[in-house]
Parts: sequence; C-alpha cells; structure tokens
Amino acid sequence: MAAGIDDIAIYIPRLYIDAADFAKARGLDPEKLQKGLGVSQMAIVDTNQDPACLAANACLQIMQKNKLSPEDIGRLYISTESSFDESKAMNSYVIGMLEQVYGQGAFEHCGGVETKFACVSGSYALYDNTNWIRAGEAEGKHALVVVSDIAKYDMGTSGEMTQGAGAVVMLLNDEPRLLAFDPKVTATSIKDEYDFYRPFGKETPIVHGQYSNLLYMIQVRKALEIYKKRALSSGLMKLEPGETILDHMDYLNMHLPYSNMGKKALAYLVRHEWRQLPRWKKIIQEIGMSEPVPKDPRGTIESVLGDEEFMAKDHEFTKLFTKTREYQELYEAKLASSLIASKMIGNLYTASLYLGFRSCLEFEYQKGVDLNGKRVGFGSYGSGSSAMVFSGLIQPQYEEIVKNMNLEAELAPRRKLTLQEYEILHENKLSPEEPMLHTKREFILVDVNTTTESRGERRYIFNE
Ligand code: HMG
Repeated sequence: MAAGIDDIAIYIPRLYIDAADFAKARGLDPEKLQKGLGVSQMAIVDTNQDPACLAANACLQIMQKNKLSPEDIGRLYISTESSFDESKAMNSYVIGMLEQVYGQGAFEHCGGVETKFACVSGSYALYDNTNWIRAGEAEGKHALVVVSDIAKYDMGTSGEMTQGAGAVVMLLNDEPRLLAFDPKVTATSIKDEYDFYRPFGKETPIVHGQYSNLLYMIQVRKALEIYKKRALSSGLMKLEPGETILDHMDYLNMHLPYSNMGKKALAYLVRHEWRQLPRWKKIIQEIGMSEPVPKDPRGTIESVLGDEEFMAKDHEFTKLFTKTREYQELYEAKLASSLIASKMIGNLYTASLYLGFRSCLEFEYQKGVDLNGKRVGFGSYGSGSSAMVFSGLIQPQYEEIVKNMNLEAELAPRRKLTLQEYEILHENKLSPEEPMLHTKREFILVDVNTTTESRGERRYIFNE
C-alpha cells in the first residue's frame, strides 16, 4: 500500500531579524552570516506565541485548505524540542486550540503523542505514522505530523547566528498527492553524544558547534551506508559499475540548522561516495591536490578536530572540490532549491528538513522541472545523536499542490525587528499581553498561570 505526504503547510512567525543588522550589533562581518552560513533573515516569535501556537496555526491551515473535519484525522503527532511541559504532550494543547474552532470534543478519538529526539524526531514520527497507514490501521483516516520549534541560543554565543522559528505540518494518507515513501529502506544511526543538548529547566541549549557539525555528517553517512544496503537488497535500486546510490536520487534534502550546513553535508557525503569510483581520479586531477588524511584516521571526533594541519588542508580540499564542475552540477540539480527558504527563515530544528523539502518542491517547479516520479532522498539529523536516511517518489498529482506554493506571499507581511526589540523579546522581558504585532485569525497565547496550584497552565485564544 502506498503511504506518504499528501499535503504540507507551514506557519512562520511574522517577526524577523535581518542578518546584516544582527552582524553589525555583534561586531561580526555580515558576510560571515550571509555567505559563510547562508543566513539572511531569522524568524522570531512574538510574546504571545509558543511552539504549540505555531503548530496549531499550521494544522488549522492544512485542515481548512483540504476541507478536512476532525473525524478525518486519526492521529496527530507533534515533534518538538521546544517543549514546555515534562508531562503534558504538546498535541494536547494543539487539540485544545483546534477545538476552539471545531467544537469541544471534536478530536476526542484522535490519537497521538509528542515525540523528542532533537531535530530528527519528526522523521521518526513520519516513519511511524506511515507504517500505521501501511498496516491498514488508518481505515481511511489521515495522520497529521507536525514539526514545530523555536531555535533559540544564548545571546552572544556563536549559535545565536543560527536561530529561527516555525512549524510545518504534513498530511499523511494512503493516496498521497505529493510523495510516497519508499518501503523497507529507512535507515538509522544512533550514538550517545553531547554535541547539543538542553537540560531540564534551561531555555537554551548547550552547544559544541564545530563538534556538532562533524558529528552530523558522520551520523548521516553511517545511516546512508545502511540505506544503501537496504535499497540494493530490497531491489529498489540497482547500481551499474561506476555508479553511486546518490546517482539514483534526483533530490537530496538535508537537515538545515543553517542553509550552508546542507552544502557542507552534501559535499561530505558525495566525497565519501565518489572516492570509490573511477570518476574520482579525474576530480583529484582537476582539484590539483590529493585528499588529506587525518594523523589518526581511526581517531575520535575530538582528535580529528584537534588535528589542525588536517583540518586546514581538509577545508582547502573541500573548497576546491565544491568548485569542480561535477560537484556544482550536482549541487544545483539536487540541493540548491531546498536551501532557499532556510536562508529567509533560519533554523526550525525539527521542521528544518521539511521546510527544505517544501522549498525544493516550490523552486524546482518554478524552474519548470517535471517532478513526477522524481526520487527525493532525506538526510535527517538530531543532536544527541541520531540520523535517519530515507526516500520517496514524487507522485503524479503533485502539481495540484505545488502550483499554489508561494513562499514570499505566505511569509508576508513580515516585520523587521530592531536589535533592541529583538533583545527585549530574547530576554523574555514582555508578557503575552504585550505583543509586537496584533495578528488576526490566528491562535495566540494569552496567559501562563503562575499560582502554586495551577502553575504552568496555558490559555490560548483564536484571535478573531
Ligand atoms: P562559528 O564557529 O563561529 O563559525 O559558528 P565558523 O568559524 O565555522 O564560520 C562559519 C562559516 O563562515 C565558515 O564557512 C567560515 O569560513 C565562514 P566554512 O568554512 O564552514 O565553509 N566565514 C566567512 N565567510 C565570509 N566572510 C566572512 C566569514 N567569516 C567566517 N567574513 C556554528 C558556526 C555552526 C558552529 C555556530 O553557529 C553554532 O554553534 N550553531 C549551533 C549548532 C549548529 O547549528 N550545529 C550544526 C550541526 S548540529 C545540528 O544540525 C543539530 C541542531 O539542529 C540541533 C538539533 O538537532 O536539535 C543544531
């Protein structure tokens, strides 16, 4: 049975900070953000928004657009790492909000949980819900998988350049118009790590930035190895001599904590795949230097990062490799379109990969590419750490959905924050009654209870 993504909707907060303003205020070269990281704007939540509001706004949008009623939804899963309760699941808040529009009890039999594994948990939720459909348990109902996050780092840290906020919701069913997942190929890797984590009670994460960059690439590569074995043994793909598995993916969508991480990860994966192939000889000749090897090739991530000579040479090699015609062609054809939205919005943690997927569909369609039957490979990564690699085929009815995608229009009207306003919001100096914007027809947070007996209870309204 086919199962996959039928439709996708996004909700992005209307406030943002501009990378150039931000760089100026922090004494950084704006080029570091714009060119070095690929960050132009970062979406910021208002005082009356939390990840549950973002998720509920995205859900309402996809339900209204598809004229779905609550009885049509068998499952609603929320994946987030911006959770604000240790027990009450975020889907419960979201259902509470949706029932303000659809009526109390309307979602009474809609199952679901909140899932957590940093940025990768949405991919696990998609996989589990796809299998719920494949198993025949859905009985004609749809699943909603929502990925919603606020990527917030301490002020003055290097992570502060890679913030953002937003929610993506995906409607899953057995007749998906957008993408049907390839069965029996989903692959994972997992390792107990501390590259990025957020201990209980702390609003922002503890981050080892360069360590996290390298770990992300290693973990995704390990998952890709398993994906490869599964794709070959299941008969999904057959490799001719000189081919790599990546030749059989038309698009590669990567987790995007900042858009250039996608470029970094693609270059890393492609180097690993091409190294074994006859084409590599020509590439090495074109680059004019041999591929550097760390002093201790079997060493730890720390030893590789600490090998300064290797790191400098490897950086130089990567830069030259990414300038080769072969890599440029692959980058333009398979990755570039997925990076556009990330540059304008920033990191959405769990939602970043799926914002990238949406961006890929919209901007490839705008190029005039016929997307029917194209295979999309996904490289999902969550700190702490786990990666998941999987794929799917774009379906014949994709155009019905993609022709109406318009990121610019969906983001507008946005308001640019001054750095002073941004810092006030960042430091939580205002209450939900003091928003920067007064939006209409959206769910907003009105109050968080502070009394001993009801501490933490949240009240939301639909702002008519
Ligand atoms: P940094 O260390 O300050 O930056 O912070 P850098 O020195 O690595 O510079 C970044 C890039 O800008 C480099 O490009 C520089 O060369 C370039 P590259 O060499 O990599 O191609 N650059 C310039 N370019 C033009 N003009 C200039 C200039 N200066 C420098 N003047 C870091 C970067 C990502 C480490 C930091 O922002 C950070 O810690 N971010 C948060 C952690 C993160 O995003 N990690 C990514 C991998 S882990 C992950 O994705 C999981 C995550 O999403 C969480 C989850 O799973 O839940 C984060």
